Amino acid sequence: MLKSTLIKAAEAGAKVMEEYFRGEFKISYKEGINNLVTEADHASEKAIFEVIRKEFPDHFLLSEEAGEIVMDSSHKWIIDPIDGTVNFAHGIPICCVSIAIERDGEMILGAVYNPFINEFYFAQKGYGATLNDKIIQVSDQTKVISSCLVTGFPYSYRDLPNGPLEVFSRFIRKGVAVRRLGSAAMDLCWVAAGRFDGFYEHKLQAWDSAAGFLIAEEAGGRVSDFKGEKYSPYQPHIVASNGKIHEELLNWVNDKIPA
Ligand code: IPD
Ligand code: CA
Ligand code: CA
Repeated sequence: MLKSTLIKAAEAGAKVMEEYFRGEFKISYKEGINNLVTEADHASEKAIFEVIRKEFPDHFLLSEEAGEIVMDSSHKWIIDPIDGTVNFAHGIPICCVSIAIERDGEMILGAVYNPFINEFYFAQKGYGATLNDKIIQVSDQTKVISSCLVTGFPYSYRDLPNGPLEVFSRFIRKGVAVRRLGSAAMDLCWVAAGRFDGFYEHKLQAWDSAAGFLIAEEAGGRVSDFKGEKYSPYQPHIVASNGKIHEELLNWVNDKIPA
């Protein structure tokens, strides 16, 4: 029941995205620069909540636009009604619904659905990861220098030492391919699918990564914070990879590569 409700909820959110995509919708601004929220984000969230609430009226919900709906429950749904909102608002089909379910503090299910390119990613803890019901696996790449990586940048930027631009330039100066798609959930799923060898980002929220990190891990990848410690979506830093380049990628991110 949990799994089928999760799938239905992701489909409901994605249906709303499709209805609004490339049409007219109201846009408002949140904290930071160009940190958009559209009518579609709210409508997708509402549709997702309706599906969940029908089956699980007393589960805890944590969702980007609504915040925390606190309930005394072992289950918490972590929802991004549209990940990649700036892309969505510009008619760029790199955006998705991302929903994860945490039980007693452990992520057990994750779904990421991009209806525009027809990609539904799903993972259940201990049971592997799938794209449109077919098992997926991370890449075999063994060296950062020959990797194709992806990253993202926060909406409000503070030029901290070893911040996003400094780390990005380290890769670019050495000729490493690093992409920026604008959807952390898609980034993680594309690591899971073996398209990217690694992903790192400095400032994510739980709803950006909760589903994608489980999908990447279940596809055989490794996900950690910048120190290489076990990943928690409740802290901002993420490094995700195929596992084979993980230690080396951590060194690049932390400026510990030989000159
Ligand atoms: C954003 C995307 C983006 C990442 C930002 C997130 P949103 O989420 O995941 O890739 O770089 O940090 O905030 O605002 O589109 O849901
Ligand atoms: Ca997001
Ligand atoms: Ca969002």
